[in-house]
Amino acid sequence: MKSIEIKVQIHVFDVEELSESDRQLVERAKAMTQTSYSPYSEFRVGAALQLADGRVFAGSNQENAAYPVGSCAERTAFFYAQASAPDVAPVAIAIAAFTNGRYLEKPVSPCGMCRQALLEAETRYGTPIRVLLYGSNGVYVAQSMRDLLPLTFDGSEMA
Ligand code: THU
Repeated sequence: MKSIEIKVQIHVFDVEELSESDRQLVERAKAMTQTSYSPYSEFRVGAALQLADGRVFAGSNQENAAYPVGSCAERTAFFYAQASAPDVAPVAIAIAAFTNGRYLEKPVSPCGMCRQALLEAETRYGTPIRVLLYGSNGVYVAQSMRDLLPLTFDGSEMA
């Protein structure tokens, strides 16, 4: 038997320790939770995606009575950015969640579908997307979306 070891390093920051740009991105994600349409889960998620040229596109989760129709905050922000600036690489995304009257203490974690969607942008532009997961007790920072989705399916096997 052989083993493959996959190592991922996540840095944990207090908000005050982040760079000004990262702090602003996190604050934007937090603010976006208040635009969520989530009457079914009452779980309000906000995401702010930064592009290589500094522009930020933000989104929130949008639900529907037919549950699978809804979209996560991350993909709302990501597709908004892609449709608005298809030639500019995304370089960072901040995510926050608000429920029961407060922000989550533990950093919110993006679902597998959003990880897959964002990872394709890393491949497409050849630029890692830094990931900032906000929790009121600390912010997890990963250097690449790939760190959150090892052994990725990227379509290269189909060629
Ligand atoms: N949700 C997000 O928007 N992002 C995540 O990272 C996790 C889950 C949304 C989907 C749904 O509207 C609600 O949170 C509960 O799953």
